[in-house]
This record gives sequence, structure tokens and C-alpha cells, in this order.
Amino acid sequence: MKIQNICCIGAGYVGGPTMAVIAKKCPDIKVTVVDINQARIAAWNDENVDNIPVYEPGLPAVVAEARGRNLFFSNDVDKAIDEAEMIFISVNTPTKTYGEGKGQAADLKWIELCARQIARVAKGDKIVVEKSTLPVRTASTLKDILTHTGNGLSFQILSNPEFLAEGTAVDDLMNPDRVLIGGDQTEEGLKAIQALVDVYAHWVPEEKILTTNVWSSELSKLTANAFLAQRVSSINSLSELCEHTEADINEVARAIGTDSRIGPKFLKSSVGFGGSCFQKDILNLVYISRTYGLQEVADYWEQVIIMNDHQKRRFAKKIIKSLYNTVNGKKIAFLGWAFKKDTNDTRESAAIYVADHLLNEQSAIEIFDPKVKKEQIYTDLDYLGTRSPEENRENLLVGTDPYKICEGAHAVAVLTEWDEFKSYDWQRIYDSMLKPAHVFDGRNLLDKEALKAIGFQVHAIGTAD
Ligand code: NAD
Ligand code: UDX
Repeated sequence: MKIQNICCIGAGYVGGPTMAVIAKKCPDIKVTVVDINQARIAAWNDENVDNIPVYEPGLPAVVAEARGRNLFFSNDVDKAIDEAEMIFISVNTPTKTYGEGKGQAADLKWIELCARQIARVAKGDKIVVEKSTLPVRTASTLKDILTHTGNGLSFQILSNPEFLAEGTAVDDLMNPDRVLIGGDQTEEGLKAIQALVDVYAHWVPEEKILTTNVWSSELSKLTANAFLAQRVSSINSLSELCEHTEADINEVARAIGTDSRIGPKFLKSSVGFGGSCFQKDILNLVYISRTYGLQEVADYWEQVIIMNDHQKRRFAKKIIKSLYNTVNGKKIAFLGWAFKKDTNDTRESAAIYVADHLLNEQSAIEIFDPKVKKEQIYTDLDYLGTRSPEENRENLLVGTDPYKICEGAHAVAVLTEWDEFKSYDWQRIYDSMLKPAHVFDGRNLLDKEALKAIGFQVHAIGTAD
């Protein structure tokens, strides 16, 4: 079967970039990305491609090339479903905030709504592709909803998890390590798998397109994120030991990373991992394991989250301790709020939790981030519900000039590893701060010796002060 029309439900950090690259690479396929969020679709359609809602290096050029040719963004979900032979579901699947599984299970209400909408609108057979990250066995829920509509249509469910990382999404999509496609191992299922293989084969070498049964594919995505996050928690756990022993975590990471069995990637110790995926997906894995009564499996993976929470708290506590055990009324300048560089996404960013901890100690915080908007920062803090929105706005300010936010500060804390922070005039920053002037480098980004030579008291993750 040759696919001519693709619809993607969900125009977020995954749906937008993924479909833009499919459209760029497959000019013979019409790709329509739909969303219920009108502002988001309007932003994707903004005449100025630099105003698209997702900040990703290289993405504006891809959108500019394909938009209006074979890439469309729309709020008309029904129409796009009706037209498409293949429908990707790329909606959000956050951790449940209520009821059974609260705080751990994935909330699948948006997934179910999509399935019901497809069932209601479809007039012909469709291939439905799970692009969202989903608990293993979700495909059976989708199949159940889609096949009990009584309209006699046939639906194939594929799992095609997305492995892109934010900040490098375009590169990751253009040159993926692999594409994973899971489906039923029946004649119809294999045909559907092949149809999706043919889409990716426009630009991905066939040996990099892995096909599996649907359950392996669903579970592989949770597993990949669990393994990656586990490496960060492992190195972070040892960063604390380094701070007590004069071992240097950067040297330890280099030493173990050259072992080809371990490899050098994902060994950067930090203030803690953030992002919309790692925590949510591990909690989900923990929940699923508990559901099957696998207590030891659940406890094993839960420890990755426990260590990450500890790392964020530890960073805030270190600031307080170094500032003579009180930050009451003291200004602390934050460089960075995004959960990593080269993205405007702040979901689960360590900065949110560090700020919350310091605000509890009545510190005054000023923040600069090159891409995150002020309203987003307040939304993130208000969402925690620790204090009133008015109090958040009173004690935390957001600036547009990095030098200004550091003026009169007791300490600067680096929360995101934006490249530009490295080339700031640190002498100028030092001169404008109260003394002793502290730098807390939560990303091991800055040149510690150079800062010390200026006069800063430098505290980096995983090295003795
Ligand atoms: P997102 O919140 O940025 O985007 C989801 C979009 O879906 C929103 O714009 C929302 O309005 C829309 N939506 C929700 N319900 C809808 C409905 N019924 N009809 C139409 N639109 C609807 O989320 P995201 O970061 O793009 O993540 C989407 C999925 O991809 C999640 O399951 C996530 O775990 C997974 N994932 C994310 C990443 C990442 O880096 N962000 C990477 C891999 C996988
Ligand atoms: C992750 C997965 O990498 C990606 O494959 C999946 O599709 C979605 O989830 P993402 O969250 O966008 O991607 O970014 P990633 O580069 O994985 O970083 C996650 C967090 O870990 C960030 O806060 C980052 O700063 C932190 N991190 C990463 C470290 O602290 N140290 C490292 O060595 C690597």
C-alpha cells in the first residue's frame, strides 16, 4: 500500500518537527498536522518561520521548505483524519495527577480521545501509528476502541516511538540511529508495517529500520529512556562521592567512557536531568512493573528518580550552606531555566525545583534564559502550588540582560548549559556582585580555574570546592 496522505494529531515538540522532516523528505506525501490548540497551530502557520512554537536549531528552514507545499498545520482534526490513510497520534501522555496511579501512571485520556475521534470520523480503513510514548499494551486499548464501532472498518495499529532529543531534533530525525516500527505479525499487520517502512525509506537506510512485534516496540521506548536516565543518575550519584574525596567526576567520566563497553555519551554530571520524558517514562515503567507484582523491578528503576530528586535538592542545599546557611533576602542570579540547551522547553527542568527550594528559604531570585519566556517561568512555578502566584512574582524576577540580573547578587547559579554563558565577560559580572562572589556551576560548563583567578568562589558538580 502506498501512503499519499498522512495526518498527525498533536502539533507539539514531537509532532511538529517529526512531520516537518517527513514532509521535507517525502514531497510525494501530503502531511497535515492537527491540534486542538488554536494558538499553537497559528504559531506553526506564522508567516515568519522564526515564530514557530518550538525552538529547535535548523527547524525553521525545514518548515519554510515544506509548508504550503506538502506540509500543512490545521485545527480541522476531522477533515485531516478523513483524508489520511495513515494517522500518527502524537499527543501528550503526562503522568496522572489524580485517581488510581496518581503520580506514576501515564494519563492516556488524550490518546483515548484521539482513538474515539478516529473511530467516529473514519469512512475507510486506516493505519493508526502510536508516535506518543505509551505503556506497553496500549495498542490493545486502541484496537478495542477502534474495532467496536460497528462501522465494519479495519484498523491496523503500529507502534513507532520517537527517539529524538530536544535541541538536536532535526539532526536526530534526519540521521536517526534507528527507526523502530512494531506491528501485528499477521498478513495485514505486516502490510501496514511495510507501508510505514516505505515512508521512512525515503531517507533512512533500510538496515536502520527495525521491525518488531507491537509490544516490544512499545516497551523499547520506555526502556531506552530508562537506560539513558539511569546513566545520568549513576554519574550524578558518584559526583557526590567525588565532592567528598577530591576525585574529579569529569576525569572519572572520561576514564570510564573510553571503555568501549561503557561509551562516552550521557556521562555528564549535572544538577539533575529534566525534560518531559525521563521522569514520566520511568515512573510509568515503575507503575507497570508494580501492576504485574514485580516489586524488585519497580524498586530498581524508582531509584533512578530518587537519585535525581536528591541531586536537585543537594544543589539547592549547597547554595544555602555556602552562603552561611541563610539565603534570606539574598539575591541569587540564575543563568538558564530550560531543561537543557538549545530548547525553549522547560518541562521538569531542574531549575524549577532549585528555585522552589531557594524561595522556601526566602531568597530573591533573578533569572535569565536566552529562549524561555517570562510567562513560562511563572507558569512553571505556579504549577507547583508551593506559594501564591503573587508571592512568586514578588520574589522571583525575570530579566532580559544577563549582566543586569547578576548586579548586586551574592551568587550566580548555572542551571542550563547554554553555550553563550561561557563567553560572558565574567570579570564584569564579578565586579558588579557582592563579595565574596559565588558561582554554582550546575552543568560543569565554565572554566573553574579562570573564574577562581578572577576571585570567584567556585562550586562545581562533582569536584571538591
Ligand atoms: P506536547 O505537549 O508538546 O504536544 C502534544 C500536543 O497534542 C499539544 O499541542 C496538544 O494540544 C495536542 N493534543 C492533545 N490532545 C489532542 C487531541 N485530542 N486532538 C488534537 N490535539 C491534541 O507533547 P510532546 O512533547 O510533543 O510529546 C508528545 C508525545 O511524544 C508524548 O507521548 C511524549 O512522551 C512523546 N515523546 C516526546 C519527546 C520529546 O522530546 N518531547 C520525545 C519522544 C517522545
Ligand atoms: C530524551 C531522550 O534522549 C530521547 O531519546 C527521547 O526521545 C526523549 O527524551 P530529551 O529529554 O529531549 O530526550 O533530552 P536529553 O538529551 O536526553 O536530556 C535529558 C536530560 O538529561 C536533560 O536535562 C539533560 O541536561 C540531562 N543530561 C543528559 C545530563 O544531565 N547529563 C547527560 O550526560 C545527558
